[in-house]
Amino acid sequence: MKVVILPDAAAVAAYGAAIFIRQIAHKPDSVLGLATGSTPVALYRELIAAYQAGSVSFEQVTSFNLDEYLGLRGDHPQSYRYFMNQQLFDHININTANTHVPLGDAQDPIAACAAYEGAIKHLGGIDIQLLGIGRNGHIGFNEPSSSLRSRTRVKTLTRATIEDNARFFGADEFQPHLSLTMGIGTILESKKVLLLATGENKAEAINACVEGPLTAACPASALQLHEQAVLIIDEAAASQLSDVEFYKHIERENQTLLAGLAAQA
Ligand code: PGA
Repeated sequence: MKVVILPDAAAVAAYGAAIFIRQIAHKPDSVLGLATGSTPVALYRELIAAYQAGSVSFEQVTSFNLDEYLGLRGDHPQSYRYFMNQQLFDHININTANTHVPLGDAQDPIAACAAYEGAIKHLGGIDIQLLGIGRNGHIGFNEPSSSLRSRTRVKTLTRATIEDNARFFGADEFQPHLSLTMGIGTILESKKVLLLATGENKAEAINACVEGPLTAACPASALQLHEQAVLIIDEAAASQLSDVEFYKHIERENQTLLAGLAAQA
């Protein structure tokens, strides 16, 4: 697991976006795994700016989002499909037919989850998966106690997650307590994983993810099993790690190595 610690949220977004842009330059028909929540918004703004500047094209890209509320149609303003359209898809040249978000209004949610897994497999798997992290260590809507091998399925939200997300819903608006989410097993099959976290309220979850035991009590700790997992976090989110200087040292060494390789090429 690589931990990149940067000064602030803007630097986190820029670093993460640069990885996506390099991925698409390397493979124009990349399969991207995308996430909702507040954290990825700044990264999406960077991608939109890069598209407008002509430095990236999404023409051949396919995307799969992590999760969706069960019970919300895609045109509901609180649905994650709506969020993705607003925050990214409507502003870039991705073919909407190639953007996938689990169907919150599926007649048969269990069959919809199986179909989602099938669609990912059919396209050869996810090249790079973007993740946020919940204060309780969730990734996607894989709440604590989720099986570390879980697949896309219907998942009950914890009280903590419902409270964290209540800010997006009106006082008397229906807020779903169920979701459709890629499983931890699904996420672990992505070729690369990028987890972004900013702010002090994520520090405890980041500590559990990086330095805690591998445990279903912190779903993000499953990333310890992934060969290509990169955490991009700001100083505040890193504030409970035991040895921040060590992680910064590794990153400096990596950058020196990459600069050396680039100079040789
Ligand atoms: P946030 O959510 O980016 O809004 O903090 C992250 C998550 O719950 O996965």
